[in-house]
Amino acid sequence: MSETVIETRRLSKEYIRDEFHITALQDVDLEVKRGEFVALMGPSGSGKSTLLHLIAAMDVPTSGEIKVLGQDLRKLSDRAIARWRNENVGFVFQSFNLIPVLTALENVELPLKLTPLKKQERIDHAVTALKLVGLGDRLGHYPRQLSGGQEQRVAIARAIVTDPALILADEPTGNLDAASAEDILHLLARLNQEFGKTVVMVTHDPHAARFASVVHHLEKGRLLPMNGNP
Ligand SMILES: Nc1ncnc2c1ncn2[C@@H]1O[C@H](COP(=O)(O)OP(=O)(O)OP(=O)(O)O)[C@@H](O)[C@H]1O
Ligand SMILES: [Mg+2]
Repeated sequence: MSETVIETRRLSKEYIRDEFHITALQDVDLEVKRGEFVALMGPSGSGKSTLLHLIAAMDVPTSGEIKVLGQDLRKLSDRAIARWRNENVGFVFQSFNLIPVLTALENVELPLKLTPLKKQERIDHAVTALKLVGLGDRLGHYPRQLSGGQEQRVAIARAIVTDPALILADEPTGNLDAASAEDILHLLARLNQEFGKTVVMVTHDPHAARFASVVHHLEKGRLLPMNGNP
């Protein structure tokens, strides 16, 4: 039986600002199995990033249940959440979010500073991750010395360096030219197929969604029934 990696039940998120209430997500029941490559699509403002942030425990739901890798996220303390996320989830952002004053190697090493690994082990792991994304010859480069596609590959190396089971990517190709975007999609597909990572990728791009094994659609905070489902 395939293992469930993400399970949400009636998951809702409401933002309250002044007198405005915005329902970003409403009653979302999502199930993602281990080894799936999921594309999350939907118009701007439909709640895609909100859902990804809830799965990554970067934000808390207003109501509903959310279990990720067997962990009920509502039961984790703030301190436990940071540790849980660091061990289990690699997050890739549209705008890369690398630290400009750190080299590629130092950026990738960063998540390992929260682990018991020694300096040399951290470097070895970071080098391995950078080689895997094809940047073994750019270890000492700073983000500004890299192309957008290379920066995103550093960000992916940073996301996988702790060997998380789950990779979450929010429009990872949104800031890239077509060729670099294609490289990143192939890399995510390889992490999924070769390394067994479960991937959830937000995208606007139907071409990018074709790399996924499952496509979910959000509209106005609701998850649409999947094609072919009753
Ligand atoms: N921190 C916040 N405070 C208030 N409202 C928010 C906040 N974050 C998101 N929202 C609102 O929640 C809704 C969903 O936003 P979200 O960012 O999840 O959409 P999205 O599908 O990722 O859109 P896009 O494709 O433009 O990135 C929007 O109406 C947005 O304005
Ligand atoms: Mg978004």
